[in-house]
Amino acid sequence: MSRFASSQAILVQCRAGFEREAAEELERRAARNDLDGRAHAKAGDAFAIFEFDDGISWQDAQKAYASASLCFGRQSWPVMARIDALPDRDRVTPIVDALKALRTAVGDVVLEYPDTNEGKKRSGFCKRFAEPLINGLEAAGLYKPGVRKTPTLFLFFPDANAVLIGLGDPRQASPWPMGIARLRMPREAPSRSTLKLAEAFQVLLSAEERDRWLRAGGKAVDLGAAPGGWSWQLSHHGLRVIAVDNGPMDKKLLDEGLVTHLREDGFVWRPKGAVDWLVCDMVEQPSRIATLMADWFLQKKCRHAMFNLKLPMKKRLAALDQCKDIIRSRLKDIPINLRFKHLYHDREEVTAYLTRLDTR
Ligand SMILES: C[S@@+](CC[C@H](N)C(=O)[O-])C[C@H]1O[C@@H](n2cnc3c(N)ncnc32)[C@H](O)[C@@H]1O
Repeated sequence: MSRFASSQAILVQCRAGFEREAAEELERRAARNDLDGRAHAKAGDAFAIFEFDDGISWQDAQKAYASASLCFGRQSWPVMARIDALPDRDRVTPIVDALKALRTAVGDVVLEYPDTNEGKKRSGFCKRFAEPLINGLEAAGLYKPGVRKTPTLFLFFPDANAVLIGLGDPRQASPWPMGIARLRMPREAPSRSTLKLAEAFQVLLSAEERDRWLRAGGKAVDLGAAPGGWSWQLSHHGLRVIAVDNGPMDKKLLDEGLVTHLREDGFVWRPKGAVDWLVCDMVEQPSRIATLMADWFLQKKCRHAMFNLKLPMKKRLAALDQCKDIIRSRLKDIPINLRFKHLYHDREEVTAYLTRLDTR
């Protein structure tokens, strides 16, 4: 076992196939924070690791790599130790010993595994392992739930006999194990992509922002709305929605009365006044979508926008950088907040949230 008093690495989990982007994001973040080291990732593993040349405290490591601030990393936390040959019969003792060596108690335990077909074989084990692990930690005096500032113990099993051991503040990590928002598909929603907007609201907005901005009586525009999964989400928060699409909308949703369908071109149509929300799921070149979103803000047509950028497979980061540049340069005179996340329900696209800071 290798073991460190300070954090030696950051682990991020991502969608399988996006390891290169996750690793590059880690390297860029290290450069920005003057942290030396290198990223490691293998295609298909659904995770990437950045190893620091010099250990830093887990608090500083987590601050530099907070889950919410990463796009391709769904979940991130500082790695404190790694065990490569966990015995089959007793996996608890080596993990408890590693924590003893770190001289810290923990307030909670999160068990994770790669989001791959191979990794999923460990889902049952992780469920069963939590109880004996907590018992082992309790017996060693290392389990202190409810004690302020006590870190959470994160465990990640890259294979059946290896474990990465991490510590972190749960508020800086994703609130969902593995960064996967498990959302139930609403039976009446017209399409599965309703889950994407539901996840975007959960992941890209804070609870306070949701309460404040997803209010009944608000107005929204949904570009590329058919058959209506995103409009359904908005209307179920009580917002009135103008759904723009040449394709047919779900009749039942229109009958509910909050959604009005316009057969118009989403790149051309604009509302007369301003709306609270603009959402856009049109599948188009990302630079075109980024330009359109920025224009709505320049023309003061919306306060907040949630939109998808479909990234070309071979140049995902370059395309994303271009979109950020377009938005930031077009809106250089307006204070904005721009957030990106490769959501669990996203595939080749990432989801963005853009808001004006002077209208809050
Ligand atoms: C991925 S689907 C949207 C799914 C929708 N968000 C839902 O939840 O049901 C993309 C939609 O964009 C529409 N679209 C593409 N180009 C458009 C344009 N220029 N103007 C309006 N709609 C457009 C398509 O007709 C298609 O219905």
